[in-house]
Formats: sequence, C-alpha cells, structure tokens
Amino acid sequence: MMMGLRREDSLLIALSWITFSGFTLGFNARIRVNRENAEFLSFQTPSRNRTGILKLIRDPYSENIYAGTLHDLYILNSEKPPALKPVNVSIFDLECQERPEDCEYSISLLKEGRNGNPLFMCKTGTEFTKCCDVSSEHVPVNCTEPWHPSHISEPSLHVGDSLYYTLAIRNNGQTVLSGLYRWSMERPTLPLSTQNEQRYVKILANQGYLPLDGKVYSFYIEKNWDQNPETPVWIPLVSQICLADRGGNKALLHNRWTSMLTARLFCGDEKNHLSYTELLDVAVLEDTEWQNTTIYTLFKNEYNLRAVCVYKMSDILHVFRSNEFTSATDPFSSPRPGECVQNSQALSPALLRFMGNRPELKAWVTPAQNPLLFSHHHYTHLQVDRVESSNSENGYHDVLLMSLDSGKVHKILDQDGKPFIIAEYEPFKTRTHISSMLLDSTTKKLFVSSSSEVIQIDLRNCSMYGNQCQPCVMARDPYCIWDWTECSHNNRSLKQDVNYGNEFICEKDDRTIRKRHTLSIVSEDSIFFLKCPMESQHASYAWYHQGMRRECDLIERDCILLFLKISSMQEGVYECIASENGYNWTVVEKYVLVSSGTDTRTSHVVLTCFLFLIYVIY
Ligand SMILES: *[C@@H]1O[C@H](CO)[C@@H](O)[C@H](O)[C@H]1NC(C)=O
Ligand SMILES: *[C@@H]1O[C@H](CO)[C@@H](O)[C@H](O)[C@H]1NC(C)=O
Ligand SMILES: *[C@@H]1O[C@H](CO)[C@@H](O)[C@H](O)[C@H]1NC(C)=O
Ligand SMILES: *[C@@H]1O[C@H](CO)[C@@H](O)[C@H](O)[C@H]1NC(C)=O
Ligand SMILES: *[C@@H]1O[C@H](CO)[C@@H](O)[C@H](O)[C@H]1NC(C)=O
Ligand SMILES: *[C@@H]1O[C@H](CO)[C@@H](O)[C@H](O)[C@H]1NC(C)=O
Ligand SMILES: *[C@@H]1O[C@H](CO)[C@@H](O)[C@H](O)[C@H]1NC(C)=O
Repeated sequence: MMMGLRREDSLLIALSWITFSGFTLGFNARIRVNRENAEFLSFQTPSRNRTGILKLIRDPYSENIYAGTLHDLYILNSEKPPALKPVNVSIFDLECQERPEDCEYSISLLKEGRNGNPLFMCKTGTEFTKCCDVSSEHVPVNCTEPWHPSHISEPSLHVGDSLYYTLAIRNNGQTVLSGLYRWSMERPTLPLSTQNEQRYVKILANQGYLPLDGKVYSFYIEKNWDQNPETPVWIPLVSQICLADRGGNKALLHNRWTSMLTARLFCGDEKNHLSYTELLDVAVLEDTEWQNTTIYTLFKNEYNLRAVCVYKMSDILHVFRSNEFTSATDPFSSPRPGECVQNSQALSPALLRFMGNRPELKAWVTPAQNPLLFSHHHYTHLQVDRVESSNSENGYHDVLLMSLDSGKVHKILDQDGKPFIIAEYEPFKTRTHISSMLLDSTTKKLFVSSSSEVIQIDLRNCSMYGNQCQPCVMARDPYCIWDWTECSHNNRSLKQDVNYGNEFICEKDDRTIRKRHTLSIVSEDSIFFLKCPMESQHASYAWYHQGMRRECDLIERDCILLFLKISSMQEGVYECIASENGYNWTVVEKYVLVSSGTDTRTSHVVLTCFLFLIYVIY
C-alpha cells in the first residue's frame, strides 16, 4: 500500500495539502469560549506541589469523578459546594506497619469499578503490586496480587473476573516483556516475546453470545524494526485474542497467548499518498450490535500533523477472518490460526509454533470514510459523543472532543468526513498541558485536568450563541437548538441546522427580530466609537448607517466604528450586521444622538426621542 512512498514525496504532498486545506471553511474554530464569555467550574487540588493529576475516572454507579495522581486520590462529588477532596485508600496499611521504611506506594492503575464499587486500584511498592476493588466507603475489598509485579499499567480492561492490562518496554534497559497480559484466577497469561518497543492505547472486549465467541482487541503502535529513514518510525496495529485462550502446553507457549492475530491499521489518504502512523488516542462508540461499533482514532504523522480515522468493527472482524498471512502460507485447516478452541493446550505443536511468531494478516484494516485531516492543530486526546438529532439521516451526530497541546479543547462536528470546528474552549487561565480528559456522556459534561486543576465543561450550555435565531443555527452545534425564545440545549424536538442549506428556519420566525436597540448620546465634536463583538470567526462583520456600509476597525475581537469628531450629520441608527454562509443577522443596533453640549433644548429632544424609542421597542 503506502510502502513505496518516498519521504520527499509525502512532504511535498503534505505541504500542498496544508496550503489547500488552509483556505477551507472550518479550518479555525467558529467560536471561542473562554473565561471572559463563559463560566467553567474549576477545582484545585489542595496540595499543589506533588506530582500532578494523571487520570480522571467516573464512578459507573454515580456521578462522582475521581482524580488520581501518582500518589494521591481525590474525589469530586456533587456536595454543595462541589469540591475536590482527598481520599485515603489504605491498600498497604498492614505491610506499611511491618516495614515502615518502605511505605512509598504509588498508584499504578486506576480504573472505573465493577460489582457496584466505584473504583478499581492497583498500588505498587518496591516489592510487589496489589490490586483491589474500592468500595464507596473507600475501603479496599477483594484484593489480589498480580503475578507480574512492578509495572502493571494502562490501558487495561476487566472482562468477568479477569484483568487484561498492558506493559510497554521501557528504554532504561529493564528487560520487561511488553504486550498484553491477563491476570485471571490467580494465573497470568503473558505476551509473546518481542524486541520492539510498543505503546498500547486501548483495549476492547466483546463477550459474544457463546463461550467461544468472546474476543479482546488491543490497539497499539510498535517501533518499526526497519530503520530505513524512508519508512515510518511507528507501525499502528490491532490484535485479536480469544477470551477462551488458556495458553499452550508445558513445552510450547506455556501461559502465553495461542490465539493472537495482528493486523495493520491504515490511516491516511491513498490517493494523495498521505499516511499517518503514530496512534495517539482511541475513542469507541459501542453499539448494541458489536459489528456496528465505531472506533475513532487520533493519529500523528512525521510532520506533526494530525488525522482522525474512523473504523467500523465489522471491517476489523472482516480482516481477522480473511485468513491470509504475511508469512509463508500456513498448512492449517482446522482449527485455523486464531480460531477460538475449548482447550488451547491441546493445539498441535506446529500450530503453536506458528502462533508463537505473532502471525500478521496480509489485509490491512482501512477506515470507513476519508480521514479528517488537521493541518495546524496539535491534538493530544480524543473523546467522542453521539448526540441524538431529529434532522439527521441516522438520528444522531458524532461530536469529537479533542484537547490541544496548548490546553484548549475543540468541539468538532464530524459530518460526512468533513470536520467543522464548532467551538474552541479555553478553560484554563494559562497555557497548560491537559493530562486527562473524561466525557460523561449521560450528563454531557466534559472534564479536563491539568496537573493541579480539574475543570468541568458543560457541553450543553448554549448561552455563548446569544439569544437570536441565526447565530444559534449557524453554530451547527448538535447540543443546541433554537426553541423560539433562546438558544437552548437540544432535547430532540426542535430545530437545528447542522447541515446548512435550510436558510428559511429563522426567516419564518418573527420573534427572532428582537434587536438590542439602545441609545447613545454623544456631544458634538467628541471622539466616539461603536463596538460590535465578533463572536463568529467564520462571519464577516460591518456597520450600516442609512443604507451605507462602513467597514470595521478590528480591535481584538471587536468590530469598531470610530468617529474622531462626531457631527450631527452622523446621527441615526447604526446596525452591525454579521454575514456567514448566506445568512445575515443584526448583532448590535444603536441609535446615536449628537448633542451640541450647551444647548438646553437638547435634553428635551433627547428625552422625547428616548421615550419614543422605548415606545417603539416595547
Ligand atoms: C451557561 O453559561 C453561562 C455563562 O457562561 C452561565 O451564566 C449559565 O448559568 C450557564 N447555564 C447553565 C444551564 O449552566
Ligand atoms: C510540598 O510542600 C511542603 C511545604 O510547602 C513540603 O514540606 C513538602 O516536602 C513538599 N512535598 C513535595 C513532594 O515536594
Ligand atoms: C489520610 O491518612 C492520613 C495519614 O494516614 C491522615 O493524616 C489523613 O487525615 C487522612 N485523610 C483522610 C481524608 O482520611
Ligand atoms: C468480590 O469478588 C466476588 C467475585 O468476583 C464478587 O462476587 C463479590 O461481589 C466481590 N465483593 C465485593 C465487595 O466487591
Ligand atoms: C448495523 O449496521 C447495519 C448496516 O449499517 C444496519 O443495517 C443495522 O440496522 C445496524 N444495526 C443496528 C442494531 O443498529
Ligand atoms: C423540549 O424543549 C421544549 C422547549 O423548551 C419543551 O417545550 C419540551 O417540553 C421539551 N421536551 C422535552 C422532552 O424535554
Ligand atoms: C447579506 O449581506 C451581504 C453583504 O454583506 C449581501 O450581499 C447579501 O445580499 C445579504 N443577504 C441577504 C439574504 O440579505
């Protein structure tokens, strides 16, 4: 596929693509939402000098959020006022009393709980690791000590009583086998050996209907053994194993996977010879029908450009069923390599040897649609939400939430392979690194953390789109609709136009013409200016006076009309009109009255006009 592509070619193509896409609509966020025009709930960790927040977790049984650092745990609950409070989980109390000299245990794994417990947590000390369910009273229960001691880490997944987790080879010379592990009924299953550096991003499971249907999928990247500078540094892969896999026999693949198949992921644009290989994040929209599960992936290429590729689970399953391997033809008929069997220890030595070489399928997993390409936004994390919608063919819209390396967050509409950046949230006061992002898709709240702060973004707050129909509709925000009085959160019954093209929505609505008609009284010959906030970065703004268009002076994010020496000739109504994609709307309307200072009659005129205006408006 992309193998023959030379680096210079792809650089040229990448650059020409940037130049091209730089002019397309949706390149910049339409609206900026920061602490000046919005409120964010913000929570500081009490002790600011320890290692920062690394992970946010939602209790699956309540709306509580947990924030974990390397050593500490905090809870954010709905008490009034909500606050981030420290929590003690004394997993190692006994050991610590016995050997007080090494009481330093770090949190090596923190994940959402099971069996009614809010959390699951592993702590690692110098000697070993202990993992426990954490009850709502924050008491450790059902503790176990996984066999592989020191570096149990993310990503991980519980399937039934088994914990699947991953290890990455570290570069500091420690010989730890990287790959997918399982701890189940006090027994480990280990990865197949590899010398290549790996980074795991996501684990998914499908339990299936029958005992032999269950499978686990992991998404990861592996350092390319081919050091040729013309080949990519990272290779993105997906692997599949059987839940029923019990390892091989004493002689071959003892306690190791006997069912693991791997396949290459392709993210890019074959026609334009673009390929992205460094997988950064994966977000999954699980469907009741497993085949229809959608997998969103965030990739980076060698030029630090980002792309989002969308895969269908059905395409991944299709590749794993394709049965043709990159290695020499396999002679196996039944069971086939990777087929789930009742007793993997009874597999033939030849098949076990074949599986021990980590067989890779010839076919690659390709995306279901053209990738979403981003030329200058450096995204780091990805979450996806599915928002119900009355005007979409599918009945929903997918919204991407991606953090940027500057600490901002983009809300992006994925519409038929075209990204539209609805809003750029700037929740933090200063430029910062976002360490974790958590979407609560039931409350539609997004939580982002820096090292010392957790901030909540209410995705359904539509107040930044104002109280007129046009800017609400132009926002194309599937969370927001025009409900005839205000831009309010989408409860599926009213209108939104994420597609454009339905220009008449607002024209039919007389009530939207509620102009902010205000009066300014200015003395003659003075300096005066009118100000109009340019909320949409996709719109053009101008002032109109007696049918004449007056261009703005741009000052920060305002469209300013400046009068150096105002005269009575310039009296009258001034309208600031925004036009975007064929829609025009009045943002500000001002009545300017010029008074000749000493003239006492002015005050009467002003008063009369003022009363008249009030009469007209109300
Ligand atoms: C939405 O945000 C505005 C300002 O940011 C705030 O005043 C308002 O209370 C919020 N609305 C809701 C429903 O949270
Ligand atoms: C944090 O600060 C306190 C006092 O400011 C200090 O005693 C403590 O050692 C610091 N802890 C770390 C981990 O730096
Ligand atoms: C946590 O434990 C420490 C020492 O064991 C204690 O000082 C602190 O008060 C405890 N905090 C909470 C919230 O229980
Ligand atoms: C402990 O584990 C068992 C078996 O998984 C489970 O049935 C039980 O509910 C767990 N207990 C608690 C308190 O979570
Ligand atoms: C799964 O996808 C197929 C093809 O898109 C569709 O026909 C089917 O209705 C979907 N199933 C569910 C449960 O949504
Ligand atoms: C949706 O919003 C409209 C207007 O705010 C309201 O009349 C209607 O009852 C809401 N529907 C639901 C299901 O909440
Ligand atoms: C919107 O304004 C532009 C000028 O900015 C004008 O050319 C256009 O005709 C207007 N469209 C409508 C529908 O009024």
